[in-house]
Amino acid sequence: MKKIGFVIVMTLVGLAILATRYAMVDLPVWHFFGGGNGLDPNGLHLQGEFVESNLGAAEGPARSVTVRMIAQQFVFVPQCIVVPAGVPIRFRITSADVVHTLSFLGTDYGLKAVPGAVTEATFTFAKAGEFKIPCHEFCGAGHYAMRSRLDVVPQDQFASLLPGERRTCELR
Ligand code: CUA
Repeated sequence: MKKIGFVIVMTLVGLAILATRYAMVDLPVWHFFGGGNGLDPNGLHLQGEFVESNLGAAEGPARSVTVRMIAQQFVFVPQCIVVPAGVPIRFRITSADVVHTLSFLGTDYGLKAVPGAVTEATFTFAKAGEFKIPCHEFCGAGHYAMRSRLDVVPQDQFASLLPGERRTCELR
């Protein structure tokens, strides 16, 4: 009888911990029950914010820049992004399948891409440079080859790029 009591107590303790920490758990099921943003991971390319023509860097008012990306097995789209140095860059990313993590090598910045939800964070890259963005979350057989690149350029250089070249540097 003592053993059963112990098991019950440990279960309750476990549930109590889970109840306070559930926001830190990465399982997509939490986002599902949390309502997410109502994003359909299978229909990202069909409609809404993450259609292909809307991916990459987009300039907003007052020279602000928003970068939209999709992570999917086993690529990031776009594969190369160019942004100006010294300007806050707002990232909005989502996943088309499983959880992926973008890590910006050489910085402390990282972003988790979760299916069914948008992850948003704003990072400023003080100096120009090239940052590799490998996937940092084991996501399947092609995980180790999954990467993108961030090209941080001086503001005047960014301003001199054509609109298409600002959106992505994939073709350069
Ligand atoms: Cu995507 Cu690992």
